[in-house]
Parts: sequence; C-alpha cells; structure tokens
Amino acid sequence: PRITFIDFSGASHEVEARTGGTIMEAAIEAMVPGIEGDCGGNCICATCHVYVDPAWLGRLPDPEGDEEAMIEYTSEPEDNSRLTCQLTVTDELDGMVVRVPETQY
Ligand code: FES
Repeated sequence: PRITFIDFSGASHEVEARTGGTIMEAAIEAMVPGIEGDCGGNCICATCHVYVDPAWLGRLPDPEGDEEAMIEYTSEPEDNSRLTCQLTVTDELDGMVVRVPETQY
C-alpha cells in the first residue's frame, strides 16, 4: 500500500509501505523529513507524530492507552494526531494521506 506523507514544507512523499509493518517504519525507510522515530517504535518518544487526513481517520483503529497518553506529549496535539509507530499498515490504507508536524519536539 502507498502512503503519502506531506512534510512541513508542503512537499509530498509517496511511500510504498510493507503490509504488517508500521507506518513509522515505512517513513524511516523512505527518509521522510520530520519523522524521527527515536524510540524505535516503543511508544515512548512521540517523535513519530503525524496528523491523519480526516478522510482516513475513521479507517484506523482508535488509539489505545499508551498511544493516547503519548499523543499528549507531542508538541501540538490535534484531534487527528496519531503516532505512526502504533499504526499497522494494512492494504485498506492504500492511498492514505498524513501530514508531518513542524516539529517532533
Ligand atoms: Fe517512538 Fe513512535 S517511534 S513513539
């Protein structure tokens, strides 16, 4: 499935993500600017934060405890904030668009 990341400069990066992997891994492999993933996907750093396009938000499972808690530690949490290391890539997400925040810290 292909996921489009729109970085803070407005440039879009279309990335081929591996089904069963995480969206954070796909972004790191493709070196999408602005996705850090410092903790390696353990949901303790909040540097893999994105804003999910509202059209796609409903196709994702709701954030659970750890992710919900860590979203509060992102620099500017919004209703469509998600941590990409907690999002598993599925074929249904083909075409999803996410926006990368200005800063992860
Ligand atoms: Fe650290 Fe997602 S990579 S919280």
